[in-house]
Amino acid sequence: MYRTGIEPPERIWWKKVGRHEKVWVWIAFAWCMVLFAMMPLWHLRGGQNPSGIRHRVDPTDYQARVAEFIQEYQAGTENGLPLVEPPPGSDVYLQASQFAWIPVVRLRQGAEYTLHLSSLDVNHGFGLYPLNINFQVVPGYDYGLRVVPNEPGEFHIMCNEFCGIGHHLMVGKIIVEPGDAAAEAIDAPAATVVEATGAGGGR
Ligand code: CUA
Repeated sequence: MYRTGIEPPERIWWKKVGRHEKVWVWIAFAWCMVLFAMMPLWHLRGGQNPSGIRHRVDPTDYQARVAEFIQEYQAGTENGLPLVEPPPGSDVYLQASQFAWIPVVRLRQGAEYTLHLSSLDVNHGFGLYPLNINFQVVPGYDYGLRVVPNEPGEFHIMCNEFCGIGHHLMVGKIIVEPGDAAAEAIDAPAATVVEATGAGGGR
């Protein structure tokens, strides 16, 4: 037995719950259900968290695919990194590794691309500044997104998953060249995930 000068509080938990407490518990529960329903709803209707094309890929195979992509469409260099200009409609391969995004890509406004993201080592985060875009880049998975850039300019890819000592230096770049007038008329966020194409096995 312990001895203390503090008097234990009155034990009241077997007493009936008051009306107000019941009401608030139900309000909290109902709100939880609303938020729970918003997740799938916003996925299906709001275009958030698109499923994308996701399948397993060996990091070395992905690295080889990126090298192939660079070799095929390289247009120059930018800050020592290859600058790649893939034709509209093509697959764009972006490689994340400690601590770089390779290559720098130049896209055309209004054209559609399939952007592939994968990592060679640890988890990285694909954040596109100044836009509100955020994707996990996971080793072993090729994550593909159909994108249509609809605002010209230079966009910085920020890594927003802590990935090691050089995390803060992990900055990449996407350049969007102005397209035709029709594309410019689109008044929407600069990159829209057009649709999450199914297929591709995996999850
Ligand atoms: Cu890559 Cu942080």
